[in-house]
Amino acid sequence: MPKITFQPSGKSIEAPAGTLLLDAAAKAGLLIDTPCGGQGRCGRCLVRVESGEVSHRENPHLSAKQLQEGWVLACVARVAGDLSLNVPPRKEREKVVEERAGTRTATALKYEWPRYPAVRQIYVELTPPTLEDAFTDVDRLQRVLSQEHSIEQLYVELPVLQRLASTLRQSAWKVTLTLDADSRLGEARLIDIQPGKPKGPLLAIALDIGTTNVVMDLVDLRSGRAIERVSERNRQIARGEDVISRIVYSEKGGLGELQHLVVDAINNLVKELSQKHSFDTRQVYQMVVASNTTMTHLFLGMPPKSIREEPYVPTANQFPVLTAAQLGVDINPLASIYNLPAVAAYVGGDITAGVLAACLFNTDRLTLFLDVGTNGEIVLGNKDWMTTCACSAGPAFEGAGVRHGMRATTGAIEEVRISNKTLGPSLHTIGDVPPLGICGSGMITALAEMLVTGVIDRSGHMKTSYVQEVMGDRSRVRKGDHGAEYVLAWAAESGNGQDIVLTEVDINNLIRTKAAIYAGMAVMARNLGINLSDIEEVLIGGAFGQHIDIEEAIQIGLLPDLPWDRFKFLGNTSLWGAYNVLLSKYAREKADEMAGKMTYLELIADNSFMNELMAAMFLPHTDIDQFPTVKAALEKAATR
Ligand code: FES
Repeated sequence: MPKITFQPSGKSIEAPAGTLLLDAAAKAGLLIDTPCGGQGRCGRCLVRVESGEVSHRENPHLSAKQLQEGWVLACVARVAGDLSLNVPPRKEREKVVEERAGTRTATALKYEWPRYPAVRQIYVELTPPTLEDAFTDVDRLQRVLSQEHSIEQLYVELPVLQRLASTLRQSAWKVTLTLDADSRLGEARLIDIQPGKPKGPLLAIALDIGTTNVVMDLVDLRSGRAIERVSERNRQIARGEDVISRIVYSEKGGLGELQHLVVDAINNLVKELSQKHSFDTRQVYQMVVASNTTMTHLFLGMPPKSIREEPYVPTANQFPVLTAAQLGVDINPLASIYNLPAVAAYVGGDITAGVLAACLFNTDRLTLFLDVGTNGEIVLGNKDWMTTCACSAGPAFEGAGVRHGMRATTGAIEEVRISNKTLGPSLHTIGDVPPLGICGSGMITALAEMLVTGVIDRSGHMKTSYVQEVMGDRSRVRKGDHGAEYVLAWAAESGNGQDIVLTEVDINNLIRTKAAIYAGMAVMARNLGINLSDIEEVLIGGAFGQHIDIEEAIQIGLLPDLPWDRFKFLGNTSLWGAYNVLLSKYAREKADEMAGKMTYLELIADNSFMNELMAAMFLPHTDIDQFPTVKAALEKAATR
């Protein structure tokens, strides 16, 4: 009989060929976690084969590299001869899980933009005036900038003019000029002057104003380094969770208040950064903003009324470059604030930034770019053409409209596995702390696991009697204030002393959201005469959290049923695009060009949209043949 030795304990047992490694381990007294109940779905019961042979080594969750390193799933692989197996500590297994096939950690696509920020600092040494050389101070600056830096037209802002004479003379005519060359070639605006050589970083901010969250990167333009990212809730949420309710609020005289609320949030984040990194907020010399069209209108104090009225036309898609003082933003008052151009009422500068970050301008491949945030926006195309639409998906994946929904921060459940034997959940939280709520990636896995294990049916309803039959007195499905609910964590296990649940109402909201996104993709593909299966690459941005399980996003019908290697998760593409624009005027030119080039498809005007939406209101879809891998998984689960 084959001998199996377990490392690092050195324990040995004998087991017949064909024994599951999980059972062999149990025989040796080793308990391996089986969050999915040993169904080969979660990929967490990892062990490494150090020597010897196992059968059933392959599993779609393991990459070729991981297989080569000897990793196998203990609930799938079987003894095929003498073996030495390593059962590594949890931390090591977690690392492998993060890298496994089918799970993607957000990674930004790199495109090497030539470094050319609009704002730069130039050190100059001027000759003092004499009776023979009695040019004005400004003319002296202009002369040296023209001779040494090809800047033919210098505009000196009044606050700088007011202290120019004293700064030049007190610094022996050796000064650092902060110039904003945002305008035409050969022109620059002098926005600050300091004695001596440049010191410290040259600070600027990339900003993403989302309907739900405001996220900010502090950037050093000199080194190109993103120093720190901070975020907070968009304070406008107090006046409405989605863009429509905020537009309505603005129509009732709330425009000024909404503008102040978002500016307050921005100023609070700037203050947080300045305290943490000990800089004066006046040392921040530029801000690039990516936001949806409504958020841009509200930030600039432009009435957004026409955005919600047929034919859905915004005041503008391109916005003037303003100064921080004009908008009340607490950075250098002369710093320019550039808002990325929008495409249409519901495809804003955040999508222009996203397309830039996703490098659609640089690919021949048929690419789908999808931004899932408070809304779902889609761009389909390649470097020659791009079509875009907005899906009015709603903010469920950002936590809104979900009873215990929360952002992807510490304490958020980001992965749920349900054992098909016990129907009990295993949770994984960000920061490995007791759960406080559930974020977007957690919701996707929860929904998929509930579907595959039979906790819910394909319309999203709880199978209460089935769960009660399996779980008995400790059934996790119960009647709550809003209908049936599944308890993800009991109060004693949670981080806030409350039961954490997913209700049928939550599930319905999530299904609605994923259905709107899938229907948008389906309508757009049909309009372009292509099949979703023709898409060569799917690039996903937005606020999904850190890790996405592609298999489960397909299982709920959020993503089309394509091979996993066609998907890439890019993280916050809105912010990444704004960061690129801060660092390179070429990136900005490209963003302007792409915003003008995208063709907008109005889904509401498309007769087939409602039909597609209704068809997608099932898990994964009413036409399950569009999801062959899910059909196979459900059929397999039904036979267990
Ligand atoms: Fe083995 Fe889940 S994959 S327990």
